[in-house]
Amino acid sequence: MELYMPTRIYNEKNCVKNHSQELAGLGSRALVVTGRRSSRMNGALSDVTEALEREHVSWTLWDGVEENPSVDTVMRARAKGLSEGADFVVGVGGGSPMDAAKAVALMMANPKQGEEMLYRKPSPGSVKPALPTACVPTTAGTGSEVTPYAILTRDVLPDIVLTTLPEETGGGQKAFPHLAQRTKQSISHRIFPSLALVDLSYLHTASRQGCVDTAVDTLAHLIESHLNTNSTDYSRIYSETGLRTWARVRDRLLRFEIGEEERRLLMNACTLGGMAITHTGTSLPHALSYPVTCEMGIPHGRAAGIFLPGFLQAYGDQEAVMRTLSLLEFGSSQTFGEYIQKLLGEVKIPDELWERDVDALLSNPGKLRNYPFQLDREKLMRLRQDW
Ligand SMILES: [Fe+2]
Repeated sequence: MELYMPTRIYNEKNCVKNHSQELAGLGSRALVVTGRRSSRMNGALSDVTEALEREHVSWTLWDGVEENPSVDTVMRARAKGLSEGADFVVGVGGGSPMDAAKAVALMMANPKQGEEMLYRKPSPGSVKPALPTACVPTTAGTGSEVTPYAILTRDVLPDIVLTTLPEETGGGQKAFPHLAQRTKQSISHRIFPSLALVDLSYLHTASRQGCVDTAVDTLAHLIESHLNTNSTDYSRIYSETGLRTWARVRDRLLRFEIGEEERRLLMNACTLGGMAITHTGTSLPHALSYPVTCEMGIPHGRAAGIFLPGFLQAYGDQEAVMRTLSLLEFGSSQTFGEYIQKLLGEVKIPDELWERDVDALLSNPGKLRNYPFQLDREKLMRLRQDW
């Protein structure tokens, strides 16, 4: 067993202000990476910039991170950071800005490398470590503030299809690039933030849907980590505590009765979920969710959550499922499924997309590795439940 959790985490109210010295200690000029709106609305961005100014550390802002950030966004943010001479990165917001911040910090440390480096397996010495990064989460979902993952949207060629050209054009074969598909994929490098400043106060502006979608992302992390090939006694310390914590907020989440205590629980469960998947990775619901997000625009947590009931029902060790559900205070897979259905409402995935999604997953052994049992197409098809 191995446990490696190198991020220093402060989880308290006003922690950006309280730990401004540690934030400023990461370098001499910060690139602050965030989205367009929410970090301004919830006060996180002004807390970060004020903390930096208090410590006389200059900063420059990149606020162009979209939901499900693209490789292109990362490259543009890197150009801004390099031109301004930044030597550390602060990601402020939900999973998108934090994931982007980690990738930007890596690319800034490797200014001569092109974007292909992000998805190339690093050989020893070929890639310099990312610049120091701090993360300030403003949603309770992804846990990115403590994970080494950075998931970006990229164009991939599922297959290079060679087409034979007509004789009159000289013959031969050519690979056509029009088969590129947009997908979400974790970069090939692990980048732990040096510092995570976790303050539940930033959750107060979340909408019902935003709060539910991100909370279900956390739930998916906890379940997928707990029932995982890589799960160990160490990782289950995080996932068990996270599941018990999530259980304490589940009924109020359904009614959206979210006050300060619920925000505290959601934030704690989120960070615990991040620590759990750091050690195990996620499993089938996450793997199946990415095309649903990319092609239907369904938010990440919701896209993973719709597969949780089917995942539990199809899981090869039903005793382990019952133990997991009891941590969440559910008596059966059925009551859990009814709860998720009530919480998320109706989500219909078109048959054509669903079949493509399943086939893509089956053809990628890397994505099946975290599921401890044999899988076939028929079993996977059952993970979509019609409701
Ligand atoms: Fe997730």
